[in-house]
Amino acid sequence: MQVVDSVIGLRTRVKTWRSQNQIIAFVPTMGNLHQGHLSLVQKARELADKVVVSIFVNPLQFNDKSDLTNYPRTLQEDIHLLTELDCDLVFTPDDTVMYPQGMSLQTSVHVPGMDDKLCGLGRPGHFDGVATVVTKLFNMVQPDIAVFGEKDYQQLLLIRQLVHDLNIPVDIVGAPTHRESSGLAMSSRNNRLSDEERTQAALLHQQLQAIKAALENGETDLDALLNSAQTQLQENGFEPEYLELRKAQDLMLYQAGEKTAVRILIAARLGSVRLIDNILCDLA
Ligand code: PAJ
Repeated sequence: MQVVDSVIGLRTRVKTWRSQNQIIAFVPTMGNLHQGHLSLVQKARELADKVVVSIFVNPLQFNDKSDLTNYPRTLQEDIHLLTELDCDLVFTPDDTVMYPQGMSLQTSVHVPGMDDKLCGLGRPGHFDGVATVVTKLFNMVQPDIAVFGEKDYQQLLLIRQLVHDLNIPVDIVGAPTHRESSGLAMSSRNNRLSDEERTQAALLHQQLQAIKAALENGETDLDALLNSAQTQLQENGFEPEYLELRKAQDLMLYQAGEKTAVRILIAARLGSVRLIDNILCDLA
C-alpha cells in the first residue's frame, strides 16, 4: 500500500492505473477510522481493481472551531488498518496541499436546497465545505466509483446532486450504517463519550426504531409521535437538534399517509458530543 501526500504523487499512480484500464474506487474520510469506514473500504474493494482512501480533516466544513480542534487524528493507526484491508493507496494531504491560497480564496461549491434543512440549519457553511472538498478530491483522484455512508444521509444526497449537476463522471455508491452491538451508529465522535454516555447513546437508535415501528403500524399523528420521542430523549440527558421524517428520495418533508420511502433523521447532543443517525422506513 502506498501513502502519498502530494497531488503530483497521487496523479502519477492514478495515471498508470487508468492507462491499464483499471477501475478505481475512492473512499474519502477524515480519518480516525472505525469499522464503519472500513466497511466502505471493503465495499470499494468488491467494486473495483484499485482502492484509494483519502484522510483529510477538512477545516472548511467545521463551523465550530473546538470541534475541529478536538477532532481525533490517528494517522498511523489508520494507515495500519488500511494496510490490513488491502487498500492500494492512501492520500493524506495537509491544509497547504488542499488550500494552497488559504481557505478564504478557495473557489467554493454550493449545492442548493441543503442549508435550510436538517444538518444545514445547525451547521452554517458545513455543506459548502463538504461539496468543495469532495469536488477537489474527485478531481485529484479521478475515480470511477466513490463510496459514501448512509450514516450521513444528507451528505450522501448532496454528493449525488453535486455529481449530477456538475456532470462529474463518478458513480456514487451508498453503503449501510455500521453499528455497535447496542445499535449506536459508529462515529469518530463516539470516542469523546464517557462510558455512561455511551450506554445512554443507544437510546437514539432505539427511538428511531420505535418511530419506524409506529409508522409501519399505521400511526398518522406524526407530531405526537416525534414529540414523545423527543421528550424521552430529553428526559435521558439528550438535547435534540432535530428529529424529522423526510422522503428518502429528496429529503422533502413527509406528510402522514404518503406511500413512499421515508428517512427518520435525528441530530442530538449528549454532553459535548453531537450525534447524528437515521434509518429507512419503507412505506411505499
Ligand atoms: P467521515 O466522517 O470521516 O466519514 C467518511 C465516510 O464514512 C462518510 O461517507 C461517512 O458517511 C462514512 N461513515 C461514517 N460512519 C459510518 C458508519 N457508522 N457506517 C457506515 N459509514 C460511515 O464524511 C466525512 O468524513 C467528510 O464529510 C468527507 C466526505 C470525507 C468530506 O470531508
